[in-house]
Amino acid sequence: MCGIIGIASAKPVFGNIIEALKKLEYRGYDSAGLSTIDNGEINEKKCSGRVNNLEKILFKNPSKGKLGIGHVRWATHGVPNEINAHPHSSEVVSVVHNGIIENSNSIKNELIKKNYLFKSQTDTEVITQLLTNYLKNYDILDSVHKTLERLEGSFALGIIFKNFKDIVVGARRGSPLAVGYGHEENYIGSDSYALKSMTNKISYLEDGEICILTKDKVEFYNSEKNKINKEILTLSNDENKTTKGDFKDFMSKEINEQSVTSKACLKEYIDHLRKDINFYNFPINPNEVNKITFIGCGTAYHSCLIAKYLFEDLTSITVETDIASEFRYRKIKFKKNNLYVFVSQSGETADTFAALDLCKKNNANTCAIVNVVESSIARTANFVLPIHAGPEIGVASTKAFIGQMLVLYLLSLKISKVRNEITDQNYTKSINDLNNLPSLIKEVLAKRDEIQIIAKDFVDSKGTMFLGRGFSYPIALEGALKLKELSYIHAEGYPAGEMKHGPLALIEDGLPVVVLAPKDKYFEKTISNMQEVIARGGKVFLFTDDDSEIISENIRYKFNIPNSNDYIKPFLLTLPLQMLAYYVASFKNCDIDKPRNLAKSVTVE
Ligand code: G6P
Repeated sequence: MCGIIGIASAKPVFGNIIEALKKLEYRGYDSAGLSTIDNGEINEKKCSGRVNNLEKILFKNPSKGKLGIGHVRWATHGVPNEINAHPHSSEVVSVVHNGIIENSNSIKNELIKKNYLFKSQTDTEVITQLLTNYLKNYDILDSVHKTLERLEGSFALGIIFKNFKDIVVGARRGSPLAVGYGHEENYIGSDSYALKSMTNKISYLEDGEICILTKDKVEFYNSEKNKINKEILTLSNDENKTTKGDFKDFMSKEINEQSVTSKACLKEYIDHLRKDINFYNFPINPNEVNKITFIGCGTAYHSCLIAKYLFEDLTSITVETDIASEFRYRKIKFKKNNLYVFVSQSGETADTFAALDLCKKNNANTCAIVNVVESSIARTANFVLPIHAGPEIGVASTKAFIGQMLVLYLLSLKISKVRNEITDQNYTKSINDLNNLPSLIKEVLAKRDEIQIIAKDFVDSKGTMFLGRGFSYPIALEGALKLKELSYIHAEGYPAGEMKHGPLALIEDGLPVVVLAPKDKYFEKTISNMQEVIARGGKVFLFTDDDSEIISENIRYKFNIPNSNDYIKPFLLTLPLQMLAYYVASFKNCDIDKPRNLAKSVTVE
């Protein structure tokens, strides 16, 4: 989703702004732009499409400005064209914005009456004109404050001023904004990743705070306009984790590294000597928890569904799952012994954060399972369990899903152990089995040639279905989500037992259907459902660890995963489905890392 960068420096900034915008591309966007102060004037350059287009414009006509702001826009108000691209500038001020201003129409009408002109269809332009209005009578800090007071909704802002040539202002409410410290340069950015090539010294703005940067210093103010100090964090500087290396795209790299990332995650949580799982400082006694609600969006929500099956199997705790955008508006009855677990790769998803905020306001016990440990969700929850997957750049989540399931599985085992609901023998065996996961992952990923053969059958299909029961049902949902995200083929996941209640009507000759049927308690039932699909002409692709030949009849392709315990199977079934989506999309020449219309970090609701 939209990305912001701002730099105050001793040297021209446009090259670094372009590089930072390229780093923000992963968030998903459809236009780009930047403003610098050149010869005392605001110099605004914008384009629709990719940052490369902006780069071409600037290299023809380089900017000498030593201070500037840049933006990649994911359209909300108004089509993705050059006019609606950010920054939005007046004679005196230029603004980039991430988020949505909910009362923009009423402010716009008020400003139009005062003869302010609007060029774009965006909500952001009201910020520009409001500021322009206040700057006539107030200084920078007061003008920014007065403007923010008028805005409803969520935002992160970057602002530069014609008459204050050495200042970049940043502000936030609801959308994240990081501040970076360099040598004779300071920065603002939507995330620390955008600033990574320039600095690893970072602070984070909290809601209501404002920062004012010059090349030499950064000042912070709280919502009462009092000067405050902020902690400066030093982030790890592992460039390796944020480049594609020899891979064609980030997604293939991220799929491929799942055996390494799962190993890293296991290493963080498993004590091999004591054969135990460590979660230090868990804020609530697991014996006292009587209900857990797992909340997330997209892929993260699918890991919440897996958690439901895990916790119901391994503990006597009542489990609920909720999609964050629904949870946040429901009338939840918060109770003392309930635990709310938020799952999010980025830790910045607006709906997930709002759901967490609702829990916090109701003094509920909260836990965050995140990949980005410096994120807003991680900083807000009572307790954080990182998944240790390393930066995930491809918009479609892969290694983070495996990491989320892994931490949820470890958590369910540990809670079960503390509650005496699993035998010592089963607990130790589960830990031993988990230690084999990285090598099993490697084994499945090595079968990519088989998936390429399967993928050819999907390339020209208009639609497809993914079926599974039990643990395989959320995996079917995730497989379908991956395929639609990447290849734009209509794909639906269903519990195999639901087929007769409607979806079976969609089966016609040649329709590709993915059936997930591991050898578990549902195996025979799923195979029966598969036969019903075959009988109606469906072209079945079976993913299983069953090695009997009998069921292979009339199946278009049977993909075997290695044998493992039932809790490991969801991990192994996920991998071929990730590869399937990847190869179908790549045969269709789709933009793998940046699928159309989608964003990595969804910071608006
Ligand atoms: C976006 C991404 C998905 C992701 C979802 C939730 O839609 O494209 O891949 O699953 O957001 O993101 P989160 O960062 O909260 O896991």
